[in-house]
Amino acid sequence: MSDTAIAAGRGHFVTFEGGEGAGKSTQIERLRKRLHGAGVDVVVTREPGGSPGAETIRRLLLGGRIKELGPEMEAMMFAAARADHVDTTIEPALRRGDWVLCDRFADSTRVYQGEAGVDTAFLDRLEALAVAGCRPDLTVLIDVPADVGIARVAARSSTGSAPQPDRFETEGENVQDRRRRMFLELAASQPERFLVVDGMQTPDAVEQEIWRAVSARLLQAEEEAWR
Ligand code: TMP
Repeated sequence: MSDTAIAAGRGHFVTFEGGEGAGKSTQIERLRKRLHGAGVDVVVTREPGGSPGAETIRRLLLGGRIKELGPEMEAMMFAAARADHVDTTIEPALRRGDWVLCDRFADSTRVYQGEAGVDTAFLDRLEALAVAGCRPDLTVLIDVPADVGIARVAARSSTGSAPQPDRFETEGENVQDRRRRMFLELAASQPERFLVVDGMQTPDAVEQEIWRAVSARLLQAEEEAWR
């Protein structure tokens, strides 16, 4: 985000990415509390979903209804949901000066649909259409080995603390391992935007690391812009 945008009182956009069972929801809630404590207005949202139209598309995607139409169609549906989410929820919040914490965003399409074989140039075009210039200021990638993530999802489902695994969570360890590598490659290619956190640490340690980065990269930058 440019200094002009900060000076105009625009909020910050922070996305969380990672494989299944990385612990994104826990950390989003912890960051929300910390920001709230620092006097910041925060909107927490998620993808696919985050607006009424996008939540309708979410049910189709996660229920597996689109799977039989192929990965390109799935990528287009994720993009359609994202376009509505950006227009209806994210952009208005940022314009109000709120911070937006989003559970998954365009990087998930790059990784999940890219891994499923969708062409990169096609994904570039879809992303440009869907995000319309609305890009994260910071992306937190919580990295855990595929087998650990899979075990965490299974444990959540068996205790009833989460719904049954969705269409993407049921894929095998090889697929989840390839997604993990793709996330790490994406992060390495854009170090100025990504913070990669080791999700094998305790939740408290992960929280501290995220808070340090948010304070250093976004809160301090904002204070300096106002000075
Ligand atoms: P969740 O389990 O984090 O709520 O995410 C929903 C699932 O949808 C998750 O398995 C990842 C998948 N997904 C994609 O395949 N492409 C996308 O663009 C997004 C946002 C999610």
